[in-house]
Amino acid sequence: MKFKREDLPVGTPVVGMVGGGQLARMTQESAIALGIQLRVLAEGETVSAAQAVADAPVGDYRDPGTVRRFAAETDVVTFDHEHVPTELLRALEAEGVKVRPGPDALVHAQDKAVMRQRLDTIDAPAPAHQVVASKADIEDFAKRIGGFPIILKTTRGGYDGKGVWVCTSAEDPVVDEAFATKVPILAEEKVDFVRELSAIVARSPHGQAVAYPIVESVQRDGICVEVTAPAPGLDPDKAAHAQQTALKIAGELGVVGILAVEMFEARDGRLLVNELAMRPHNTGHWSIEGAVTSQFENHLRAVLDLPLGSPAARAPYTVMVNVLGGDVEDMHLGLLHCMARDPGLKVHFYGKSVKPGRKVGHVTAYGDDLAEVRERARHAAAYLTGTIDE
Ligand SMILES: Nc1ncnc2c1ncn2[C@@H]1O[C@H](COP(=O)(O)OP(=O)(O)OP(=O)(O)O)[C@@H](O)[C@H]1O
Ligand SMILES: [Mg+2]
Repeated sequence: MKFKREDLPVGTPVVGMVGGGQLARMTQESAIALGIQLRVLAEGETVSAAQAVADAPVGDYRDPGTVRRFAAETDVVTFDHEHVPTELLRALEAEGVKVRPGPDALVHAQDKAVMRQRLDTIDAPAPAHQVVASKADIEDFAKRIGGFPIILKTTRGGYDGKGVWVCTSAEDPVVDEAFATKVPILAEEKVDFVRELSAIVARSPHGQAVAYPIVESVQRDGICVEVTAPAPGLDPDKAAHAQQTALKIAGELGVVGILAVEMFEARDGRLLVNELAMRPHNTGHWSIEGAVTSQFENHLRAVLDLPLGSPAARAPYTVMVNVLGGDVEDMHLGLLHCMARDPGLKVHFYGKSVKPGRKVGHVTAYGDDLAEVRERARHAAAYLTGTIDE
């Protein structure tokens, strides 16, 4: 460890986060404020969080020895991604390491088949689904739900829409593509949705939980591009139902930390669970400025079993727009214009170099008028990436 325990002020909690992406980087902001020592297991010397966290050893999160040594110098281990093997986490837990969320909860964010099966048993509404192993299975499933198109997805390892296919027949080339992954494949009803929603809750080990306002998220090519808090025009009963569903899932699964429940608001009125994430989530970035307590702070509070902070919104509307890599390589070039145009704008850069479509930052605006707040956030993101030049 970079700092000896005795060099830190008495009682300083040490939280270990596996993964050095932007989620760990943004968690550091809250850790600093709370006097928490964040320790990150990074993928490289200069990854997003390693630039911001002093104690960021580089190592492979799949290697038991590496993770064990990392965990030994922390009070609790948590995650910036869900890729640490479940068995490795079970072993750590058995050795007395506090793993939060624990492996038995986390597996539902790692494996979509396990998640679907479990949610069925707790009556959380989901799209029709079935694990498929052959073209015949795909035919049968499509017949059962009224025909193609259907969705195919890998049960493990997908992210940002990679590992999700629309399938129009059993002979569709995507079928071979899906089976070629060698990962079990889940078939789902292709939901005709009005929009995507996200329900974020935080839950602590002793069972306290708080629910953030339900937000609307827009995905493009499988990547979250825009989030509006709260979801405009959402029926209050539906919003309450979405929050209760997320709280129920967190409780039943024993989640500790942030749980994000991605949902579809279907055209026929159903509210369906898409997938779960057990870490701060892109659809919760608005909370940094938009809520009394950000998702990052509440994640830290939860894993340390401290009382949770208020998730209440600070403004009638908050809009977050992701900054995705475009043609402009120097993201700081656009700051002069954006900051001069809009003193209320908040910019977050992740310390990542620009690649097409890569999440390199986000911007947030908040205020009373949704149309205006949206325009401000969209303008800034488009300007920074070079999509517009005024
Ligand atoms: N059953 C479905 N019906 C309609 N659209 C779907 C369905 N499943 C997924 N999608 C679309 O594909 C996107 C990505 O799917 P999903 O969230 O399952 O994959 P992921 O790659 O794990 O996502 P993430 O980037 O959130 O990790 C969804 O946000 C949604 O837009
Ligand atoms: Mg998703």
